[in-house]
Parts: sequence; C-alpha cells; structure tokens
Amino acid sequence: MSIQIIQKPRGTLDYINNQGKLLENLRESFLNETKKYNCEYIEVPMFEENKLFHRTVGESSDIVRKETFDLEQKGDKNYTLRPEFTASVARAIIENKIYTLPDMPLKYCYFGPVFRYERPQTGRYRQITQMGVEFFDIKLDLHTVIDALLLSINSAKKFLKHNIKVKLNYLGSFESREKYKDILKEYFKDKIDSMCDDCKQRFETNPLRILDCKVENDQEIARNAPKIGQYLNNDDQKEFNDILKCLKKLNIDYIIDDGLVRGLDYYTGLVWELYDENNYSLGAIGGGGKYSSLVSSIGGPLMEGVGFSLGGERLLMSLSENEKNSILDKDELDYFIIDFKRDNHVCEIANKLRENNKSVFICSYSRALGGAFKMADKKHAKNVIILENDGTIKLKDMQSRQQVEISEAELLNIK
Ligand code: HAM
Repeated sequence: MSIQIIQKPRGTLDYINNQGKLLENLRESFLNETKKYNCEYIEVPMFEENKLFHRTVGESSDIVRKETFDLEQKGDKNYTLRPEFTASVARAIIENKIYTLPDMPLKYCYFGPVFRYERPQTGRYRQITQMGVEFFDIKLDLHTVIDALLLSINSAKKFLKHNIKVKLNYLGSFESREKYKDILKEYFKDKIDSMCDDCKQRFETNPLRILDCKVENDQEIARNAPKIGQYLNNDDQKEFNDILKCLKKLNIDYIIDDGLVRGLDYYTGLVWELYDENNYSLGAIGGGGKYSSLVSSIGGPLMEGVGFSLGGERLLMSLSENEKNSILDKDELDYFIIDFKRDNHVCEIANKLRENNKSVFICSYSRALGGAFKMADKKHAKNVIILENDGTIKLKDMQSRQQVEISEAELLNIK
C-alpha cells in the first residue's frame, strides 16, 4: 500500500525556492524602511485570548464573527490564533506598562503570520504574512498620523518599485461615528429586507459595515447612502483638511473614497488602503488608520494609536517578472567549491573563508564539472574554487572567466 502524501492546509502557501528568497527580501526591505522612522521591532504571541479580538476588532466584524481560528480549549482560557497584530501590540504595551514612559510617540513595527478562516481564492489566504507598524501617544500629533501613512506608502513602493494607489477616508470621532450610524440606520431601514443576511446582521450591530458589503445589489443600495463627510464635526473636518493639505505638499496622489470603512471596528479618524495600480482586482495590498479607544477598551489608559499592515502575499503577487528577477539576481555567492580531492579538507577551507565573512557553497560529488559550473552560474557565484585530485587549487573569476592556480594561504588571504 502506498503511503498517502500529506498536503498543506487549504489557503496556505509554502515559501520555497525563489518564493522564500522574495519573502526574505520583503522582510528586510520593510524593516529597513521602518528604521528610517525609528521604529522598534516587536514580537507578540501567535495566539491570544479570544476576548482580546472580540473587544477590539469588534463583534460586528467578519473577522470575529466567522474567521477566527479558535483553538481547542486547554485550561480555563479560550485562545485563538491572532487574526491581526494591532490588538496584540496594544495589549503588549499595556501589559508591559510601556505607556508609563514619557518618550512619546511609541513606535513599533512587526512582521509575521496572522490567521483568518476566509474562503481561499486568488490573493486571499488563511495564513497571511502581515508587516506593519503601530504608533501610540496620549494624543497623536498630526505629523505622527501622516508619518504612519507615509511609511505604508514608502515601504510598499520601495519593494514594488512601481506606483501604488492610495485611497483615503475619514471616519471621524467616536461621537461623529455614532451619529452617522443612526443616520445610516434610518437610510437602510426600508431597504434592509432586500439585502444579504450579513447586511441584516450589520444593520443591527454596526450599520457602517454595510458600506463595505461586496454583494452587487447591496453595493448599489449603499452607493446612494448619506456620506460620512457630511456628519463630521468641526474638529474632524479640520483634521482631515490639514492631512490632505500636507499630502498635497508632499506630492502624494490620493483618492478620497467615502465608502471606505475598513473591515475592523476600532477605527476613528483617518483610514486608508493601498492598491497595486497594475493589479487592482487583487484587493488592497495594505490598509490602516487611526484608532482612539482601542487601548482603553482593553484596560489601558486613554491613548490614541495609528498604524497599518501590508499583506505579504499580495505584495509578492504584485511584483512583475523584472522586479522579481532584480531581487533574485542580487543574491550573490562569494565562493562555489568543486572538490575533486574528496578528503574533507574542503570543510577546513570553507570554514576559514566563512570566518572571513565570505559566503561559501560546496557542490555535491554527484555533479560532474559541467553541471557544477552551470549550478555556480545559477547561484550567481562570483568565484569557483576547484580542489584538484593532486592537491592544486584553481580559482576562477566567474565574471572575467579567468582561471588561476593559487595556494591555500593566498586563497584564505583574499579580503
Ligand atoms: P486588514 O485590512 O484586515 O488590516 O489587513 C491588512 C492587509 O493584509 C490587507 O490590506 C491585505 O493586503 C492583507 N490581507 C488581509 N486578509 C488577507 C487574506 N485573507 N489573504 C491575503 N491577504 C490578506 C489589518 O489587519 C489591520 N490590523 C491594519 C492596521 C494596523 N490598522 C491599524 N494598524
């Protein structure tokens, strides 16, 4: 009887070969960009108590209603795999009492997997690589909010090397939002019976989320709903205008989309989403916004936050072939060794080269000379070392294709 091959879970990916290299490059490129904004790297657990996400992401969000990967109960707590980072980062600054430090704003960046039980399709997975930042302050200065938006745009551009579309909206303060929810309820009241079951539930829990429905008939109805912009108070309007003025000065192109409400309940104020201009149908490659009561809703002080997350899978899918190749070509190898001597002395040579900070790959004995050189080219090796049977060492520069005989001492002295 043949042994059944076990496959990866639906909606997940293996990052293997070039995909692994591209992901590694994305991580490095993102974290380098965050350094320019002086963000501190943070790691939080991959699972948390369910109630953390119920209280923050929100009972009315699709994520909490039907997409969490809840773990089998162990002990007296209910745990779930994190569906996002924001709530966990907020929990961590409360639990570690970081908010008592006077050094504001706090600026954290992260990179790692999150889990959502969604229906898999192109660009939609169940394990998602998210990278993002969360900034906190007692009251966020506008420059901190704009910095978060800029960092999201710049880090996406840095990796993709092509233009991206920025969609903005302003959801207003908690009070403006509550007033707007009542107005939406009034508008949808006599239409809700013809709408989808999800919208019927959203009507009860958070009518704002009806604006985010993807069902065509519902989108048609939502299109004529009153716009939030009309219900913002003076402070909200001023803040939004100030942000837009600043973006103009920074030459950032944007589209204001008054239907943009985001899929998580904690936002107040500016929200945004980023799209790949060349691949709009993929969905947002990232999104974020400001949240004023998330920290206090889980027992922390009154403190505002702003942040964003980019989706690693969608960013990788947005790379053109040329963009991919230019990342992969950068992956160089200092020495590729072909060992005909086969007495394991190669281990000492490779070890000393590595002590000199050189990268070294020792070819398998199964490859003949021609195949070994092809492999060295594929690995973008700068040099090939041949350890001959008679003890001589040859060094070939792979760019000039010049080969010389060299002593071991000379080889190990090359800087
Ligand atoms: P989000 O919009 O739910 O926001 O997710 C951020 C990004 O993760 C999306 O724009 C998308 O690129 C990617 N993403 C989400 N779900 C999937 C999926 N099923 N398959 C593939 N990619 C996906 C948040 O998670 C917020 N925590 C962002 C934030 C941080 N807001 C403030 N701070």
